[in-house]
Amino acid sequence: MKRVFSGVQPTGNIHIGNYLGALKQFVELQQDHDCVYCIVDLHSITMPQDPKVLRENIMDVAALYLAIGLDPKKSIIFVQSMVPGHTELAWILMCNSYTGELSRMTQFKQKSRDSESAPTGLFTYPILMAADILLYDTDVVPVGNDQKQHIEITRDLAERVNNKYGKTFVVPDGRFLKEGARIMSLDDPTAKMSKSAENIHSRISLLDDTNKIKKSIMRSTTDSEGTIHYDMGSKPGISNLLNIYSAFSGLGVVEIEKKYEGRGYGDFKKDLVDVTVEAILPIQQRYHEIRKSQELIDILKDGAEKANTISEKTLTRVKEKFGLGL
Ligand code: TYM
Repeated sequence: MKRVFSGVQPTGNIHIGNYLGALKQFVELQQDHDCVYCIVDLHSITMPQDPKVLRENIMDVAALYLAIGLDPKKSIIFVQSMVPGHTELAWILMCNSYTGELSRMTQFKQKSRDSESAPTGLFTYPILMAADILLYDTDVVPVGNDQKQHIEITRDLAERVNNKYGKTFVVPDGRFLKEGARIMSLDDPTAKMSKSAENIHSRISLLDDTNKIKKSIMRSTTDSEGTIHYDMGSKPGISNLLNIYSAFSGLGVVEIEKKYEGRGYGDFKKDLVDVTVEAILPIQQRYHEIRKSQELIDILKDGAEKANTISEKTLTRVKEKFGLGL
């Protein structure tokens, strides 16, 4: 079976972009793949975090993983900082990466804003992500489009090490969904939906109540044309809503366009509220059942143990190739 690895940062507000771009794929893939899903807490501290809030966020993501349908009997679910191999491999990879390629990463450029006091961890973030993936001999990485550059650098690093030291790593492929790969912000459909945007109505979080979902969708930015037609270039607002409708309902965009021929944005948005709530409500119900349970902690401990076993095996192989240790 092919190995799948992916991760989500515990930075709060897991939204429908995260779900439709990545998390939904996690569930599908666990049927016929060997899956490893991580809560990447070490990545989250590249930006300032309140320790108490971070702990809660880690447990929130873990509970959401289970609530969307991840099954700990099928998938390994764990917290990154509980497996020391991630940072160990990151160091080895760092010694094989170039400052030039890291300087070109768009995420670093955006988040550091050219400031000399940007944390070094923000600069080396892609290397830790490459270590996450390569540590598990991963074949497939299900992610949203915004992670494309990170997957590319992971592949480059794997190939570079393989060329220099002989076959050491599996070279992974990214897996991107058509409709969900890039869910845009509801108030500015030219920017991606993000956890950190100031306006809470720019996103729908998986834990939003029905009222909030309704408000965010009904006030979302569209255009003055009034026709429900997909065209990301000239009608990014309605196209984004069509993508969300399609990803939640399973209907194709053309089918949805036909259904709403001659009808206005108000009608369409009202139905999109229903489609969204119908998809999210069962997730919320399961989330509340699981969130405070001892079972959740046991699952994460068990996951870390299993992840450690794989990680130690890979590191033994890597160290041998590099001539490290005895
Ligand atoms: P993070 O926590 O920002 O996002 C988690 C996943 O959600 C996807 N995503 C989106 N998809 C569609 N539309 C959007 N608006 C949207 N916003 C976010 C992301 O692409 C991601 O798949 N660097 C990663 C975490 C990470 C990781 C890894 C992922 C660390 N190590 C190893 C895969 C493999 C990140 O910041 O994701």
